[in-house]
Amino acid sequence: MLKNKQKFIGVFDSGFGGINTLRKIVKELPVYSYFYLGDTARAPYGTHSKEIVYEFAKQAVDFMFVNNCEFIIFACNTASSDALRKIQQEYLPKRYPNKRVLGVVIPAVEEAIVKSRNKKIGIIATEGTVQSGVFIKELVKIEPKIKVFQNPCPLLVPIVEEGEQNSKATKIILENYLKPLKNKGIDTLILGCTHYGILENQIRKIIVSNITIISEAKVVPKKLKDYLKKHPEIERKLEKNGVVHFYSTDLTNKFTSLGSKFFGKKIKVQKVSLN
Ligand code: DGL
Repeated sequence: MLKNKQKFIGVFDSGFGGINTLRKIVKELPVYSYFYLGDTARAPYGTHSKEIVYEFAKQAVDFMFVNNCEFIIFACNTASSDALRKIQQEYLPKRYPNKRVLGVVIPAVEEAIVKSRNKKIGIIATEGTVQSGVFIKELVKIEPKIKVFQNPCPLLVPIVEEGEQNSKATKIILENYLKPLKNKGIDTLILGCTHYGILENQIRKIIVSNITIISEAKVVPKKLKDYLKKHPEIERKLEKNGVVHFYSTDLTNKFTSLGSKFFGKKIKVQKVSLN
């Protein structure tokens, strides 16, 4: 599909929410070339079982490595939570021993630990991510005394996808989702889903001002920059043409229009099949 020697930074998401993260990555690191894949045909991932998300994620990994991604970032929290560890520990050593797949959970967790003073951290995410318990596991690993409170927010992805972020109903829904976390006295809130960064301003209006919001779209680019500094052997292989390619498993007007909105300029999407 693309010339052999080009090495891309791969960014994978269940759909187009990850384009928001990609936009910030490209802003921070414009020199590299990127390969974005959204599995729109099978999204949302947040309501699927762990086993299915693992199978889908594996197919995405195959597709992206075959098409010259040097490494892949799972911008999708659900894939980062349900599939990443198994892919890193079992699939890559067997199939791609020299390749890396990175997630968004650890960068968010590390930033939250640094920012939190009272060590009470709130997480909002999809049902799948909350059930995986991955955020709790990773937070406790770094800071065993930490208190973590999670709330799944299944209505927020459709709200963003329908462009309803400023409606009165959204305000009420957000208040309901955030109230239990506020009541626990959290001082840091992780937005553990690709789409929630789009709602950051609305969330900020509802939570008290001394709660720090950790938005992955802001954290991941900085962490990626550090990663590339620490790994010159990877950085050296990357194509430096500043091009972004978009692929999706389904071609819908929604992907192109919302994707363009999330990316900040018009995108051209090509349809691909993973299985
Ligand atoms: N990209 C997913 C995530 O970050 C949200 C959308 C979905 O459920 O597929 O968890």
